[in-house]
Amino acid sequence: MKLCIINCSFSSTSRTRVLAMRFLKILKKTHKNVDFVDLSKIQLPICDGNKCYENKNVKILTKKLSSAQGIVIASPIYNYDLNAAAKNLVELTGSAWKDKIIGFLCTAGGSKSYMSVMPFANSLMLDYRCHILPRFVYAEENAFRGNEVADEKIIERLEELAKSFVRVTKALSK
Ligand SMILES: Cc1cc2nc3c(=O)[nH]c(=O)nc-3n(C[C@H](O)[C@H](O)[C@H](O)COP(=O)(O)O)c2cc1C
Repeated sequence: MKLCIINCSFSSTSRTRVLAMRFLKILKKTHKNVDFVDLSKIQLPICDGNKCYENKNVKILTKKLSSAQGIVIASPIYNYDLNAAAKNLVELTGSAWKDKIIGFLCTAGGSKSYMSVMPFANSLMLDYRCHILPRFVYAEENAFRGNEVADEKIIERLEELAKSFVRVTKALSK
C-alpha cells in the first residue's frame, strides 16, 4: 500500500511544511511506503485545461499520485480555502485522484477558517469519488515554535490522523 503526503505551501519559512514533515515522521513509524511531494520544489504550469497535460512534470506527478492509495494534502488556508497551488494540482492531475483516501493538514492565521477545507473536500468526493477522512489537523501560528510543532494537542491529532489514515486506506484498498 502506497501513501503520499503533499506540501502545497510555497513559503520558504512554511509552517505547513513543518506540519507535513512531522506528520511524515509519525506516519513512517508504522508505514514505510510513503512519498513526500513538496510542490514548491517542482515546476508546474498553471492549468489551462489543454497543453498543460503534456508537461513532463505534470505527467510524472500524475503517475505518482495514481500509484498511491491514500493522499494527505497539507495546505495553508488562503481566503477561506486551500491555497491556489492545491487547487491547481487537482486541476492538473485530475483522474489521478479517483477513489483515493484523502486526509487534510492545514495551517491558518486564526481559528475562524476551521471549515475552509470543506469545498475542496466536496469537490474531491463528487468529482473523483474520494473518501475523505472525517478528521483533519488544523494548526494556528501558536502551535509552532521555530521549525517544530510545539502544541501537544496538535501532535496528538497528527498521531490520530496517521492511525486512521493507515487503517481506512488499508481497509478500503483491499
Ligand atoms: C493570501 C493569504 C490569505 C490568507 N487567508 C487566510 C484565511 O482566510 N484564514 C486564515 O485563518 N488564515 C489565512 N491566512 C494565513 C495563513 O493561512 C497562515 O499564515 C499559514 O500558516 C501560512 O502557511 P505557511 O506558513 O505554510 O506559509 C492567509 C495568508 C495569506 C498569505
